[in-house]
Amino acid sequence: MAQQNINFSFGLWTTGWQGRDQFGDATREHRNPADDVRHLAELGAWGFTFHDDDVVPFGSDDATRDRLLGEVKTAAEETGLTIEMVTTNLFSHPVFKDGGLTSNDRSVRRFALRKVLRNIDLTAELGAKTFVMWGGREGSEYDGAKDLHAALERYKEGLDLVAGYIKDKGYDIKIALEPKPNEPRGDIFLPTVGHALGFIAELEHGDIVGLNPETGHEQMAGLNYTHGLAQALWADKLFHIDLNGQRSIKFDQDLVFGHGDLLSAFFTVDLVENGFPASPNAPRYTGPRHFDYKPSRTETVAGVWDSAKANMDTYTMLATKAAAYRNDPEVQEAFKTAGLFELATPTLGADETVADLLADTTTFEDYDADTAAERDFGFVRLNQLALKHLIG
Ligand code: GCO
Ligand code: MN
Ligand code: MN
Repeated sequence: MAQQNINFSFGLWTTGWQGRDQFGDATREHRNPADDVRHLAELGAWGFTFHDDDVVPFGSDDATRDRLLGEVKTAAEETGLTIEMVTTNLFSHPVFKDGGLTSNDRSVRRFALRKVLRNIDLTAELGAKTFVMWGGREGSEYDGAKDLHAALERYKEGLDLVAGYIKDKGYDIKIALEPKPNEPRGDIFLPTVGHALGFIAELEHGDIVGLNPETGHEQMAGLNYTHGLAQALWADKLFHIDLNGQRSIKFDQDLVFGHGDLLSAFFTVDLVENGFPASPNAPRYTGPRHFDYKPSRTETVAGVWDSAKANMDTYTMLATKAAAYRNDPEVQEAFKTAGLFELATPTLGADETVADLLADTTTFEDYDADTAAERDFGFVRLNQLALKHLIG
């Protein structure tokens, strides 16, 4: 399957996941991350990403750190793969059991900040432009366990400190927050795209802070991922994406992209590749198509690579189908019937005032609401056209 023109990237923790879960031990051996970089390149990926601890085990000495990072850098250089994003693990080590930036223990918060700042320097050194912050342990199991106001204050303090450091150093890096409703904590702070956007608006350095929404995380909250991407785009805050699959509200499945809600995946690809259908001047997503999935625990190493390839193939197939959907004259006509272009027209005229609206009796006094209610938008027909393109 051709993957030219689409910049696909993978977290090294995805292919490197050994299948250890809540109830069972690892089902796959540890592999050298640099080998996975080479394998991803062979499969047609464009880039990769990693947490500090994916490459350098927690607590390694400086010599080991330099050697292991050197191996990954060499693999990137040899394959031409781009290191597009770096992120910090503030969740695996027991010290982070009550969070990193929002732990009740002040010494843990100061340690977490040092770990993040060290990783920011690494991000700059590697030339990556995005720094993801997934606060998986920032949260609680019990509502009484934290002063929730103080927790948000400390989260803001931490974020502003990191963003301020990026600015002081003159680094060309943007921070992308990754929302998730729960798991591993009972409740995680910044549970959805909307919560995160509200939080960013309160930051001092929010101008360089945006979002990295993950398909499954929105769906775990019963929300619509494509709507989440759309609102992040509308706010000009869609800095990065984590694509994967999830089947309904349950634990974080991290399935292959498209292996969850396929129709939703189709519309996600349609938005990312083709933009908003009636808003040509709206912000577009220009970052990599990044996969954050887990090769299922049942798979051997062969299945790791089957599933990595499946992400790219599925995305590519959906991109082809979404292009055909947009170019189909019947779909364009159905867009018109549905009122898509009408919604892109401002509700008041260019020079119209509220007083003009109030004076216009056709809008209210003489408005025939019953006749307007009879309008057939043809939404089902439009959706069936999408389905026809998807599986027809
Ligand atoms: C998850 C998360 C993580 C983060 C990653 C980046 O599946 O809950 O997506 O995989 O994306 O840790 O920091
Ligand atoms: Mn996930
Ligand atoms: Mn993720």
